[in-house]
Amino acid sequence: MQIQWFPGHMAKARREITEKLKMIDVVFELVDARIPLSSRNPMIDEIVDHKPRLILLNKTDMADRVITKEWEEYFGERDLKTATVNSKTGQGLEKIPDMARELVKAKLEKMIEKGVKPRAVRALILGIPNVGKSTLINRLANKKIAKTGDRPGITQRQQWIKVGKELELLDTPGILWPKFEDQTTGYRLAVTGAIKDEILDFGDIAFFAIQYLKEAYPEKLMERYKLTDTTAPPLQVFEEIGKKRGCLIKGGEVDYEKAAELILRDIRSEKLGPVSFERPADYE
Ligand code: G4P
Repeated sequence: MQIQWFPGHMAKARREITEKLKMIDVVFELVDARIPLSSRNPMIDEIVDHKPRLILLNKTDMADRVITKEWEEYFGERDLKTATVNSKTGQGLEKIPDMARELVKAKLEKMIEKGVKPRAVRALILGIPNVGKSTLINRLANKKIAKTGDRPGITQRQQWIKVGKELELLDTPGILWPKFEDQTTGYRLAVTGAIKDEILDFGDIAFFAIQYLKEAYPEKLMERYKLTDTTAPPLQVFEEIGKKRGCLIKGGEVDYEKAAELILRDIRSEKLGPVSFERPADYE
């Protein structure tokens, strides 16, 4: 998956996206529904500029439904259109062509007034690595399209994918860098697998997850690990999980590395059920 994003890479990715933007009417900004703000590129507004945009909250199957609703309201209050989707199963994708058309209605009407022949709406998918861009393109295309490497600056010949009669999609997405702004954002990205574990300490990521789950989903934590008390300090909860799951070193002490690995694997493979790692309330 992952590359290091150096300033040169960012500049190149941005240049390529600016070129692509010239060809399209509407941007589909793909974010992870579990961490909708942390999985946005920090410069997205500036990069997309005035192009109409639809935010697709992807991986909704993995996110907490109640929190996803709250996010829809959050974006709605800020005049940002959203749609909730599951690119893996295709759930929610059927509404996209109509929503895209609605967003560029005025522009298309103006073109028709000027005598230009009506045409399909042209769209580009934008997002950080691992957010589901290729999965979404394949779903919308109804066939397997080769995955673009997540390396910035891979230029490819562009093709349009037809999605019904009304929508055309560029077959290569725009890949943007994730936020590296603060540690919490980094942990959220790491917990959900958007950035490589090596970038942050494995144990720290798991510790962050426990700290968060303990507060937001104590009952899920209790159920999965058969815990009796989730009000204990995070380190104690972490250790109890390690003990309960047999992550031990000689002498019966907790193997922190092993316990961290187990916790992260469980979260990413949805053993705790749908969970969101960011809430609008975090920003109030
Ligand atoms: P990218 O192009 O943006 O880098 O992301 P990509 O489509 O490769 O998707 C990254 C991972 O996210 C893939 O899992 C993909 O299956 C998964 N994914 C994408 N959309 C959804 C969704 O809506 N729901 C769920 N549950 N998963 C989604 P992977 O483990 O890397 O690959 P694989 O196990 O699918 O082969």
